Amino acid sequence: MVLMQSYVIEGGWPLKGELVIQGSKNAVLPLIAAALLNEGITVLDGCPDISDVDKMLEIIRHLGCKAYKDKDSIIIDAASVYCDEIPEEMVKSVRGSMLVMGAMLARCGRIAMNYPGGCMIGERPVNYHLSAFEKMGAEVRYVENGILCTCTQLTGCTVALPFPSVGATENVILAAVKACGPTTIINAAMEPEIIELCRLLCIMGADISGIGSKIIIINKGISKRDVQYTVMSDRIVAGTYAYAAAVTGGDICCIVNRDDIMTGISVLCKKMGIKLKYGNDYVRIISGGKIRSIPYVKTEPYPGFPTDMQSQLMSVLSLGDGISVIEESIFEKRYHIIGELLKMGADIHSKESRAYIRGVKSLKGAVLDVKDLRGGAALIIAGLAADGTTTVLDPGYIGRGYERIADNLSELGGNIYLA
Ligand code: EPZ
Repeated sequence: MVLMQSYVIEGGWPLKGELVIQGSKNAVLPLIAAALLNEGITVLDGCPDISDVDKMLEIIRHLGCKAYKDKDSIIIDAASVYCDEIPEEMVKSVRGSMLVMGAMLARCGRIAMNYPGGCMIGERPVNYHLSAFEKMGAEVRYVENGILCTCTQLTGCTVALPFPSVGATENVILAAVKACGPTTIINAAMEPEIIELCRLLCIMGADISGIGSKIIIINKGISKRDVQYTVMSDRIVAGTYAYAAAVTGGDICCIVNRDDIMTGISVLCKKMGIKLKYGNDYVRIISGGKIRSIPYVKTEPYPGFPTDMQSQLMSVLSLGDGISVIEESIFEKRYHIIGELLKMGADIHSKESRAYIRGVKSLKGAVLDVKDLRGGAALIIAGLAADGTTTVLDPGYIGRGYERIADNLSELGGNIYLA
């Protein structure tokens, strides 16, 4: 049953003040998967209150874990994990479910699940994951409604990724920490969320080197122990609020717990005339007035401009002072919002992986449909800047990754409420 939510926005109100940025969705999901490897208690602090986390907890409970939330902490007892098939509706609901596969192969030697879900931003295959598991000694069978992976003992090996896939890098690390012998990942993704995963696994006893680089070497070492970890702030959520401040003539302070939160985002902010000031636990974003257009920008793996900020950037550049070109190089279907922005009077067209944006003086409020998580956030940004009223109709995507977005924005002075 789809629960349609409507974000009703009156544009033109500048965002002012400060907000604490939530914990990172794309960090906490692999950390929850990692807890499956620990027969002690794993406590994750600073977790975001978002539906993807709830779905991931439902999955690990199905596998025998005790898991509960206490404010922004998650407490997981994985002492009695047993292998089981994960029901299709659970797996389809969250992309992070795929990360359970590596952890369960390592822990139990068996996992059956459907192909993972996630935003419809492309085909999103998992071939890199499965071929790595096979190279480590697992048997992968394609069964009626998904994948059955089994192994007696995983063996360390060298895994060369054709592309620095975030999920595949994380899944191989999760499988490798209990493999016999070292595993080397070549062409590993370098996203900060992977560093978080490696740090937690090292606290659990794993021996991992090359953390944060393209070559990661993993040796076993996990032993039963009680561990605690504080999740990093969500860099994509911080970037989203930064763009919202930029297009509303705002001035906000995002309180964060890592000093590299704006890597990949800050360079483009400066080019657009958005001012950034850093403190030891915050980044301040000050609108620079009219947005300066960007002649060309391409989404790239970290530390390049993140694909998860591409839709939000398109909303911002719709109000630029000239022509901008965005090239989406990571996913093949991440231009859903073009049709929605055109309803607001934007001037955008796309050809293959490029979007051509001619900035307009202003956008006008409209009724818009959300088709993916980051696209939904991008439409809220457009509504905050538009003249008149915008209604963003969301079948549940935005709440997957953004905690209290309407409350946060209205506390910053934005005129937005959830109908
Ligand atoms: C993670 O997705 C993030 N999700 C995505 O964030 C993010 O956009 C993406 O990494 C890239 O940074 C989570 O962490 C839960 P990939 P993931 O494997 O792991 C191809 C959001 O909005 N590929 O790095 O699925 C794939 O098709 C979400 O928070 C294969 O071909 O991304 C894509 O073109 C959206 N075969 C490219 O690699 C594979 O086996 C990058 O995908 C795996 C991936």
